[in-house]
Amino acid sequence: MARNWVEISRAALLANLAYVRQRLAPGTEVCAVVKADAYGHGAVACASIFAEAGVKWLAVTSVEEGARLRRAGMGGRILVLAGFTAEQAASIVADQLTPAVWDAQQIDWLRAATRPGQSRRQFNIHLKLDTGMGRLGIRPDQYGAMETALARTPELRVEAVFSHLAETGDRQLAALGEARGWAQQFEPEAWHLLNSEAALAHPEWGGALARVGLALYGYSADPAHSEHLAPALSWKTRVISLKQLPAGHGVGYGAAYRTTRTTNVATIAVGYADGYRRDLWSANGDGARVLIRGVECPVVGNISMDLTTVDVTAAGEIPLGADVVLLGPAMPATRLADWAATIPYEILCGLSARVERVHGN
Ligand SMILES: Cc1ncc(COP(=O)(O)O)c(C=O)c1O
Repeated sequence: MARNWVEISRAALLANLAYVRQRLAPGTEVCAVVKADAYGHGAVACASIFAEAGVKWLAVTSVEEGARLRRAGMGGRILVLAGFTAEQAASIVADQLTPAVWDAQQIDWLRAATRPGQSRRQFNIHLKLDTGMGRLGIRPDQYGAMETALARTPELRVEAVFSHLAETGDRQLAALGEARGWAQQFEPEAWHLLNSEAALAHPEWGGALARVGLALYGYSADPAHSEHLAPALSWKTRVISLKQLPAGHGVGYGAAYRTTRTTNVATIAVGYADGYRRDLWSANGDGARVLIRGVECPVVGNISMDLTTVDVTAAGEIPLGADVVLLGPAMPATRLADWAATIPYEILCGLSARVERVHGN
């Protein structure tokens, strides 16, 4: 039996998709971002659920992630957001992935891969524009090299141009307007910009696609939206040991926590090797809590690789084997993120591969 496991609610994923779709402007469709194993939710299962609900576009980080979806039988369009190597260009073409491109060299790699048997403007790429993130994307001083590379590569078609927002404000819109003006020469059919936050806050910014990740999994930084979203993932474990410790007893490595009264301590089967981060608990501050029979019980002591200790005194009598909720609708990733001074993305993506994913209704 699993030590700890994750349950994914299909109903929640579909309800979140419906909420996002209902916010979008006419003409904008959802591109479901399923990179990083769908933010820990299981990429193949989530992609299938979204595809069944009519989502035609998926986005992944890498060629490997895209290939994995193809091997699992996923059709539709798959946008590869974060680059590829010269060697991977052939796999991109073979798997009919759609790469984000921002460097003239990438065009050369794709030309070498598309030549055999490809006719004019057959292979679609999405040109990425840097409108302020300063990370991936073409900047004006690179325009000339890109024009030259594309001019000698008639096999490629710039299907769309796109950019990524570094913040929710409208600071990047002017730069996007200018960059789109430059890209008109390639006759792109579409452009896209929105991520979850912008799709919910500024659907009127438009574009053909909204590349939505976090909101589909049930989270938004804006309470006005998060109340309409349902965290799709619940992470659970069990109590594997129960004991009563006297006041002044150390708990866990380094005895970093000492009981201040007679304390019922449960050891639960999760640790940092599962993604239950060590920094969820700190000796100085208010640390993580877990839910046992609906009662919030504080983690006490250093979280170890496979085990975590919890003060369950407030929960009363509990049996060995009792279910423990680490994360879920009543214990959202945003709370864990606050405890660990991070963002919900990192909590969700941090769930390790050894945590079994169970997909239900
Ligand atoms: C290029 C790109 N587009 C869209 C997204 C989705 O962002 P979010 O999960 O905030 O919707 C990401 C995620 O980091 C991204 O890197």
